[in-house]
Amino acid sequence: MSRFFTVADATAMEALGVQLAHALKSGAVVYLAGEVGAGKTTLVRGVLRGLGFTGRVRSPTYTLMEGYEFPGRLFQHLDLYRIRAADELEFLGIRELDDPEQWIFVEWPERGAGALPPPDLKLNIQLREPGRQVQVEAPSGRGRNLVEAWRAGVQGAAMPGLANPG
Ligand SMILES: Nc1ncnc2c1ncn2[C@@H]1O[C@H](COP(=O)(O)OP(=O)(O)OP(=O)(O)O)[C@@H](O)[C@H]1O
Ligand SMILES: [Mg+2]
Repeated sequence: MSRFFTVADATAMEALGVQLAHALKSGAVVYLAGEVGAGKTTLVRGVLRGLGFTGRVRSPTYTLMEGYEFPGRLFQHLDLYRIRAADELEFLGIRELDDPEQWIFVEWPERGAGALPPPDLKLNIQLREPGRQVQVEAPSGRGRNLVEAWRAGVQGAAMPGLANPG
C-alpha cells in the first residue's frame, strides 16, 4: 500500500503530525526519510503537539535521541544522521527500543539498519517546492490501521494546505 499527502508549508506539516498523533492508539515505530530540511523534525513536532506536549521540541541532531514521557508510554525521537555505523546505537545509551508499546520516530533510519525495530510506518518526505509530498507505506497490520485513522483525521480536519489525494 502506498499513499501520499500534499503539504503546502511548515504549518500544514505540523497539522499533519497532529492528526497522526490523534490516530496513535497502540505503540508505533515510524521511519522518516527525506533529505536535509525536508521537514522530518517539523512533522514529529506536530505529533508531539498532538499528544499534548507543550514544551520545546528540539531536533535530536546532536543528542541523537530526545525522549518524552507520556502516561504509560515513552516517546523516543531519534536522528541517526551523525552515526557512522548501526552498531554505534547500542553504545549511545539509548533506552530499549524493542518495547512494542513505545512510540519510536526515527529520522535517517537507513543509518541504523539492523539495529532498529521494524517499522509500522515508513514516511518519505519529498520536496515539491514550495511544499512537500509525504509518501506513506505501512508494512505492518498495526501500521495499516494507523494510516486509515490518520487519513480520516486529515480529511475531517479540512486544513488549508493539507490534502490526501491518494
Ligand atoms: N511543506 C513544508 N513542510 C515542512 N517544512 C517546510 C515546508 N516548507 C518549508 N519548510 C521548512 O523546511 C524546514 C524543515 O526543517 P526540519 O528541521 O523539519 O527538516 P528535517 O527533515 O528534520 O532536516 P534534518 O535532516 O536536517 O533533520 C523548516 O525550516 C520548515 O519551516
Ligand atoms: Mg530533523
